[in-house]
Amino acid sequence: MTEMNPTQRGFTAVSPSNIAFLKYWGKRDVTNQWPANDSISMTLSACKTTTTARRSGNNFDSFTLDGVTINSNANKDHKIFRHLNRVRSTLNMSGNLDIVSQNSFPSSCGIASSASGFSALTLACVAALYQTTTWEDFASFGASRDKLAHLSRLGSGSAGRSMFGGYVKWTAGHSPDKQTISQLWTETHWDLADVIVVLSPGAKEIPSSEAHAAAWGSRLFGPRLAGIDMRAKLLQEAIKNKDVELLGREIESEALEMHAICMTGAPQITYITETTSSFLSWLRTERARGDIQAWATIDAGPNIHLVCKKEHAQKTAEHVKANWKDAQIILDSTGPGPYITTTQGDAQHV
Ligand code: DP6
Repeated sequence: MTEMNPTQRGFTAVSPSNIAFLKYWGKRDVTNQWPANDSISMTLSACKTTTTARRSGNNFDSFTLDGVTINSNANKDHKIFRHLNRVRSTLNMSGNLDIVSQNSFPSSCGIASSASGFSALTLACVAALYQTTTWEDFASFGASRDKLAHLSRLGSGSAGRSMFGGYVKWTAGHSPDKQTISQLWTETHWDLADVIVVLSPGAKEIPSSEAHAAAWGSRLFGPRLAGIDMRAKLLQEAIKNKDVELLGREIESEALEMHAICMTGAPQITYITETTSSFLSWLRTERARGDIQAWATIDAGPNIHLVCKKEHAQKTAEHVKANWKDAQIILDSTGPGPYITTTQGDAQHV
């Protein structure tokens, strides 16, 4: 049985999710988490994971998510415990941990939680192993933010980008060890809104790892990779110049391209439901009429992220709600990235 050790100080990492404008889709090398292409994302603010780690009195690790506990004795091959071992061996640290994690958004609603989940897990573990919350201390022990981003990426690719706030680029490079993850602009450069429209809360997800592999079977994948640099250039230009129309056009085609690859891959995978499809048609009509100034992007699921200027967020949300009564809406925006606190409450943005 897992016994928590309340005498140990808890180290809490709060890490945001991110929404990809240029999608990480396909892996060249699964072991090293080497992506097929560069990706660009915006770090969010409201959708986040809060994870607390404390040194354990047991000789195994435990992990509790939304009240359900698993431990490394019974589940040693679980990706969470494999990640803990990776963190400890990379940093040359030892000691078992009890970890408790919670998402700010309903976990059943189909919003990818692995980005916020694995970045929060990495940070909370590092803080508990080093018994400190400061970025400077982490770096002095050899765990720079850059190193922690790459560690998080090994847990789940998109989690590497959640280690930074604002707008973040993950470049693939020419070999697995030449990958980079870095901030392009801070959150203050351009405060955009992400109106998340949850159309199918209970939709069953096909793990993205399966879909990453299936992408190589699509004949559309080669042409996609050939056009990636051009898309990255246009997206960066749009963010730099705060050109919401250019950004909107590019993110919408990018998402549809990714889903076309899913649907034509081997095996064929369809994340978009009939409702997603009807919503997209409706969005285009409303936009043409001038009733909505927002553009869609869609991750590996049926739900839609509407990206728009902050001043249009409320109106967009209300217009969606009036027309899509069953949809659940989460208002999010550009965020500053992860931070760490202790149970004593001393907080610091890393
Ligand atoms: C559609 O990061 O979930 O959200 O590395 O296998 O854990 P793994 O994949 P994951 O893939 C994310 C795919 C995406 C696009 C993106 O975030 O770039």
